[in-house]
Amino acid sequence: MRRLFDRLVTSACIDNTVMKVIFVTGTDTGIGKTVISSAVSAFFSLRKQMNVGVMKPFECGLSKTDKDLLPWDAICLREASGSNDDLNIISPYTLEAPVAPEVAAMLEHVDLDISLVDKIFQNLKKSHDLLVIEGAGGVLVPIRENFFFIDLIQKWNAPTLVVSRLGLGTINHTLLTIHLLKERGIKVLGVILNDTIGLGDLPTQTNPAILRKYLLDVPILGIFPHVKDLIKGNVDRERMADILAKNIDTDALLEQ
Ligand SMILES: Nc1ncnc2c1ncn2[C@@H]1O[C@H](COP(=O)(O)OP(=O)(O)OP(=O)(O)O)[C@@H](O)[C@H]1O
Ligand SMILES: [Mg+2]
Repeated sequence: MRRLFDRLVTSACIDNTVMKVIFVTGTDTGIGKTVISSAVSAFFSLRKQMNVGVMKPFECGLSKTDKDLLPWDAICLREASGSNDDLNIISPYTLEAPVAPEVAAMLEHVDLDISLVDKIFQNLKKSHDLLVIEGAGGVLVPIRENFFFIDLIQKWNAPTLVVSRLGLGTINHTLLTIHLLKERGIKVLGVILNDTIGLGDLPTQTNPAILRKYLLDVPILGIFPHVKDLIKGNVDRERMADILAKNIDTDALLEQ
């Protein structure tokens, strides 16, 4: 009986549709983490029939609508993934101020409880084939005093996808981010270069090759193209999944 149980557990872990995690970090705020996390969630849900869960553990700078303040990133991720999880689970901490979680929490007198977020993470991981988690800003954004996103990634031993700008400034930010992730022993799934502006200028043309040269063993999974009105009102899951499939090496995202 014990052997049968061991075999079942082992085969569940080998099956490549079970218990995968992708932590999506960025080299900066506004770099396209929500867009790419949404596209990744839509792709694996629609094209690979996976049960995709999502999480935006700390969302700051809520979007103002006519009557409400809404966690827009969490809403996009939920729509894109097709997840039925409650928004309060997907984003347990929503803070109004558009600053780092540590600062917003201090201003709004909220105690950010990492163990609560950890419990939610463990449960979401168990109830989905794939869990896509979006950070906030980059790896050295503080969540609590002396506890940064990199510490959360390390605590969860989460395979990480880095979203970088395609244009000017990306060499420094991308290499710094990868350097820290590697130093902490985190599995880096790859880098997606996001063409947020669509300038087509010289840095845009030369950055992929120079980054390939210096990233060594970390792959560039592709360039996510500039697309107008990518998320406007509702999330178009089909369109996002298509753009990802056409431009990104999606297999590498599950090579964990
Ligand atoms: N490839 C793209 N083409 C066109 N617009 C894009 C692209 N990627 C992102 N954008 C736009 O850039 C803005 C920032 O993107 P996004 O919200 O995904 O960034 P983020 O890294 O999640 O930001 P935050 O740090 O606030 O969570 C959005 O208005 C988004 O629609
Ligand atoms: Mg975002």
